[in-house]
Amino acid sequence: MSVNWSLPFEEKIIPSKYQSKVISPSIYKELHKIATENYKDFWASIASQLEWFKPWEKVLDDSNPPFYKWFVGGEINASYLAVDRHAKSWRKNKVAIIWEGEPAEGDKPKEVRYITYGELYREVNRVAYILKEVYGLKKGDAISLYLPMIPELPIFMLAAARLGIIFSVVFSGFSAQALADRINDAKAKLLVTADGGWRRGKIVPLKDIADKALENTSTVEKVLVVKRTNNNITMKEGRDEYLDNVYKQVPLNAYVEPERTKSEDPLFILYTSGTTGKPKGIVHDTGGYLTILRATMNWVFDIKDNDIMWTTADIGWITGHSYIVFGPLLEGATTVMYEGALDYPNPDRWASIIERYGVTILYTSPTAIRSFMKLGEDVYKSRDFSSVRLMHSVGEPINPEAFRWFFRLVGKESIPFGSTWWMTETGGIMISHLPGLYLIPLKPGTNGMPLPGIDVDVVSENSNPTKPEERGYLVIRKPWPGMPLTIWGDPDRYVKVYWSKFPGIFYPGDFAVKDSDGYFWILGRADEVIKVAGHRLGTYELESALIHHPAVAEAAVVGVPDPLKGEVPVAFVVLKVGQKANEELKKSLNEWVREQVGPIASLSSIYFVSKLPKTRSGKIMRRVVKAVITNQPVGDITTLEDEASVEEVKKAYEELK
Ligand code: WT7
Repeated sequence: MSVNWSLPFEEKIIPSKYQSKVISPSIYKELHKIATENYKDFWASIASQLEWFKPWEKVLDDSNPPFYKWFVGGEINASYLAVDRHAKSWRKNKVAIIWEGEPAEGDKPKEVRYITYGELYREVNRVAYILKEVYGLKKGDAISLYLPMIPELPIFMLAAARLGIIFSVVFSGFSAQALADRINDAKAKLLVTADGGWRRGKIVPLKDIADKALENTSTVEKVLVVKRTNNNITMKEGRDEYLDNVYKQVPLNAYVEPERTKSEDPLFILYTSGTTGKPKGIVHDTGGYLTILRATMNWVFDIKDNDIMWTTADIGWITGHSYIVFGPLLEGATTVMYEGALDYPNPDRWASIIERYGVTILYTSPTAIRSFMKLGEDVYKSRDFSSVRLMHSVGEPINPEAFRWFFRLVGKESIPFGSTWWMTETGGIMISHLPGLYLIPLKPGTNGMPLPGIDVDVVSENSNPTKPEERGYLVIRKPWPGMPLTIWGDPDRYVKVYWSKFPGIFYPGDFAVKDSDGYFWILGRADEVIKVAGHRLGTYELESALIHHPAVAEAAVVGVPDPLKGEVPVAFVVLKVGQKANEELKKSLNEWVREQVGPIASLSSIYFVSKLPKTRSGKIMRRVVKAVITNQPVGDITTLEDEASVEEVKKAYEELK
């Protein structure tokens, strides 16, 4: 896969408000080289900026690659760093979280909460008390959080972290089946959910979905329910309890001593989709993760005490974990979170959030920007964006057109605007225009250069570095803080997926090019993962949902370019004998997939065929399907079993185009 626009390698933009920070790419390259050659000492110097209960004995334990452990022997607590330290300082009355709910009257949200560090400290301690004293959970136990974007979500994350309880946040747009899979894999003992959440004027019935999920799980003993939408739900005796009721047992000034968690203790599990098999539980450590956040909050976001940072993602994804919750709070900043959608009830809700709270740092996505762009500039004429001093996008490649539009509208062409590259597995940002207290000139659409200490390269199939402007695979050569500990319960898979294509080096799964200035341009996934609106969808999950439908025999799902969402999934389906291919069935198949995987898994089209391109050993050749419908050469098809299948796909696609 590669982007379908041309890359402006030569263009260089220096934003006037950041001129004093500009460094030439060639000089930065030298600095990067020094930091990266001495990466252990370098990262130790960053980690030592954090407050440790006990210093580490060894910076990096690399005795059992690729299971690297950072800051071994060190003891540190994520909740203590993100909450206690500030609550015990002058920041006690500083706002930690600004939250607004969805229901609104005109431009005004009905509910807004300003949670200070002092209040956050109190809430986190009370919830920690519940986890420990009421539910008897302890270090190493796992819990699942299936919550809408309400303050209880970060509060439960921080309370779990306080006790070394491993939390697994499941995005509230996932279905019962997806939730059950994640609960079972994590072996969660407690599920925290809400009666519902607001999205586009409707209630997402989270408790009902959770009830269905729990029919297929065996580890969950208790369910805690947050009241949010007051819809009717059923509570199971002995299992379910309202948070409000449990709170009654908690002393107002409850204090729970933070655990002295080890640096390499797992902080959380976050599930992400791959090409094959069920979602992978990426496990992040504590000390390394906090170190990459400390670094990137200061370099990439240039965070200061008077900043209001708004990351528009959902906390259910890594972007939210790192840059709504832990990153900003670690730095004692103010973080903005909102429930609902960026363009509901008003198409310019996002602009009004910036204006009302005076957002200074904005972190959003190309899909969001393209959807704003559709409305034209006039909608935002009276909006004041002058508080914004720095912005970035993330999740997928940004097309130069969207970059330019947003840079002009919000950035007034005078502030840094970059496209940061990273992923669930890296924990924090790896490539940026602000690599380490400097700014390199912007180029529309590029990701910038690797951060100091991050050894990123582009290589060909035989692992040699590619020439400038030649496409290859992105790799990370050296371990970095924030890297995964493993895949939960499946260390072999961790080795296989990330460390085997190029032995000894980390393979993220992306195509990239490097230009002659040393800038990286990530082009998109090199595997069959689909990025829909920046969200990662595995073909496996969609296909397995389809083939569980009683009418379906076989299915192949591929991603095709989409002007708004970057990519959308389309399905080619072989029906069982006797099934009628018609519009009605298409509709019911699509509903089925949404039910099985969640609303984010909407198929953009379904095509019926009588056979799919397969290898002689029976593997579906999605690469061939994709090439046919995107009008690319089909490449090597010598292993193809039946060439007529290619024609079939072509015909089905063209007939409906
Ligand atoms: C994949 C990771 C962690 C951020 C949210 C996504 C793609 C991410 C960029 C970017 C081009 C990007 C890659 C990567 N990606 N950021 N700035 N430019 N592509 O995390 O869901 O784990 O997905 O997102 O393809 O592999 P994720």
